[in-house]
Formats: sequence, structure tokens, C-alpha cells
Amino acid sequence: MTGFKCLAVPGPTNMPFEVRQAMDVPLEDHRAPDFPEFTMPLLADLKKVFRTETGQVFIFPGSGTGGWESAIANTLSAGDKVLTSAFGQFSFLWVDMCHRFGLDVTNIDVEWGRGVPLDEYRAALEADKSHAIKAVLVCHNETATGVTSSIKAVRALLDEIGHPALLFVDGVSSVGSLDFRMEEWGVDVVVSGSQKGFMLPTGLAIVGVSQKALDARNTSDLPVCFFSFDDMIKSNSTGYFPYTPAATLLRGLRASVDMLLAEGMDNVAQRHHHLAEGVRRAVSAWGLTNCCQDAQWHSDTVTAIKVGEGFDANDVIQSAYHKFNTSLGAGLSVLNGKVFRIGHLGWLNEIMVLQALGGVELAMRDVGIPFTAGSGVGAAVDFYAGGYQAAKVAAE
Ligand SMILES: Cc1ncc(COP(=O)(O)O)c(C=O)c1O
Repeated sequence: MTGFKCLAVPGPTNMPFEVRQAMDVPLEDHRAPDFPEFTMPLLADLKKVFRTETGQVFIFPGSGTGGWESAIANTLSAGDKVLTSAFGQFSFLWVDMCHRFGLDVTNIDVEWGRGVPLDEYRAALEADKSHAIKAVLVCHNETATGVTSSIKAVRALLDEIGHPALLFVDGVSSVGSLDFRMEEWGVDVVVSGSQKGFMLPTGLAIVGVSQKALDARNTSDLPVCFFSFDDMIKSNSTGYFPYTPAATLLRGLRASVDMLLAEGMDNVAQRHHHLAEGVRRAVSAWGLTNCCQDAQWHSDTVTAIKVGEGFDANDVIQSAYHKFNTSLGAGLSVLNGKVFRIGHLGWLNEIMVLQALGGVELAMRDVGIPFTAGSGVGAAVDFYAGGYQAAKVAAE
């Protein structure tokens, strides 16, 4: 293969040169006397990415799934009631984990393509006069369907009803890309991973935890070991970890946090919105349908695109991958064959998105999906032509 392969899946994402270089270092002693000089500022700066002042951020070796586990195992007890919703493969899997932990799950199944069911959450929370529900779970950005839900609205609901449940958020494909405000939205545990907005290889579960969630450790009776907040707090307080940390990834994380903070978290979110809008315009110009059913839920990190009756989305993915050096995201579970996904998050700019859209057009032409060649790329070009800075100024 000559030239770049276009990585247009919604994680892992493209890795910036700065991050690669930061990790191209000899392996180091994670018990070295000066290791805390590196880790303490990193843990402090991560709080700026999560936008929390009173919470803490923990870094576990693992992936987002491990982060889910840490949220449950540290704060809840077997048989505790939790309120959940499933509207895509990832929200579904977190609910499944709740069952496996022996929680008493009230789950609301929502049509895939829609967001968190606020009305049903309201009804369940209002009916729970004894405050038996200990945690409310929300997938901020459902990567399987390209749906972003409003965490702010869930917080407002809890506050309005005066319900004290913990608010758990899956931020795996949102933190570091979308607008995310842990403190302002009263999020108690937010789970993220290294391979999406943080632009790193897979291997870290990065978890933000509020003081309220830390207090909930006192009543939790679920066994927890590897993902123990207690152990992390003890070791992190001196700048170390309870076991061998993924130190090389931490070096990369330092670089990625520096990049995010230098750009500014508001600008990061605006850039993602700008890039995503170009993709959405391309989808409309192709005459295809976004799996996300309403603009209020449009995800700025991933778009799932329906290929329509008579076509198999896997053919598009196969063609893009084998013939045109483009990796697209597959349709997961019930969406398999029905959608392909374009990831547009992380270290990305307009020309990289146009490359992905071009790859999609080549593949769609190859498998016979009818559309006008160049229409999607053209729509995105028209949108991007003013430039990101121009779009940003116009929005202000
Ligand atoms: C929204 C969401 N939650 C959770 C996960 C699971 O994370 P991981 O694969 O890092 O364990 C993913 C993975 O893509 C995801 O997109």
C-alpha cells in the first residue's frame, strides 16, 4: 500500500505526532523518586479536561468497559436499584453489566437512533418516593447509532424532582471531543477511554468521580480490587499507583492533555461540531439517512449512515477497506448490515474528513449504491469553504 490508510472509525482515532513522540521513550521506573513530579500535574490537568474542580480523575489500565465496572463496583451494593436505558449497543452492554453485578435494573428500551428517554426517566424517578434508585445511568454519546443525549437535561430532572441518585455517565466517545462539564452537570461518575477523544492507543480507562460518589464507597458491598477507588486514592495521593501503571501511555496522555488544553475545551467541542456538520451535509447530499432520528441528538463524534433497502452496509465497509484504504465503522448488533459509521473525532481536520468522505463515495460507487459522485464531498466542501475560523466567528 502506498500512502496513508484513512482511519475513519469512531475509535481508535488518529494519533497526533506529538503523542507518538511522547511515547517513544525508554521504559521507566514507575517507583522512581521523581515519578510524582510527572503524575501529580497530569492528574490535576485531567480535571480540566473533565471540567471538575471538586471531583477526582483516576487512570486505570484497561478500556472503557473497565471504567463502567469501576463505577458500579465502587459505589453500589448487590440488589441496589438502578435506572438505565438502552438505545444502542454500548448503552445496552452497560445495562447488561448491571445485571451481571446483581443490581436491580429498571431498564427502558428505546428505539435505536433515539436518545435518553427523559419522560420515562421522569416517571420512574417521580414514582420512587423512597429513593430506592441509587444510580441513574446515561450513555452520553451512543457510538453505535451516533446519538448524543443531554446530560444537562438529566441533571435538571434529578434536581427538579429532588432525587438523590448518583448520575453515572458513559463518556467514552464524548469526553475530550464533545462539550462535557462534569462539575456543572453534577455528574458523579464519568467513564472514558484513551482511544477516542484522548487520541491514544487503547489501554486506559480514565474515570472522573465526584465527592458524592467517593462517599458512596462507605455503603457499597460489591467486591472491588483492580478497579478500587480506595487503592487509587491512597497511591495517587503520593503520586504513585497501586500497581504497575501503563507509564508509556501516561506519557502519551500528558501530550494529549496538553494539546486539548492548548486548543481549549470549548474550541475542541466547536471543531468537532464543525467537522461533523460537514459529514451530515454529505449524508443528505448522497440521499442517505442518518441513523440518528432527530437533530437534537446529532453526534459530533460519529455518524451512522443507513444504506437503505436492498444494500448491505458491510459491502461498503469491505470495499472501502480492501480497495480504497479506508476503515469505516461497522453496524453493531441489530444494525449490522444496515449502517456503516464514519468516526469524526480526535486529531482531525477538514481535509481528513474529506478524505473519509471520498473513500465512502468510492466504496458506494463500487457496490452500486446510487448517488451523484462528488455530491457528498461537494456538500462538505461547500460547508467547510468558509473555514473553521470563519464558521466560529459567524457563530459568535
Ligand atoms: C460509548 C461507548 N461506551 C463504551 C465503550 C466500550 O469501551 P471499550 O471498548 O474501550 O471497552 C465504547 C467503545 O467503543 C463506546 O463507544
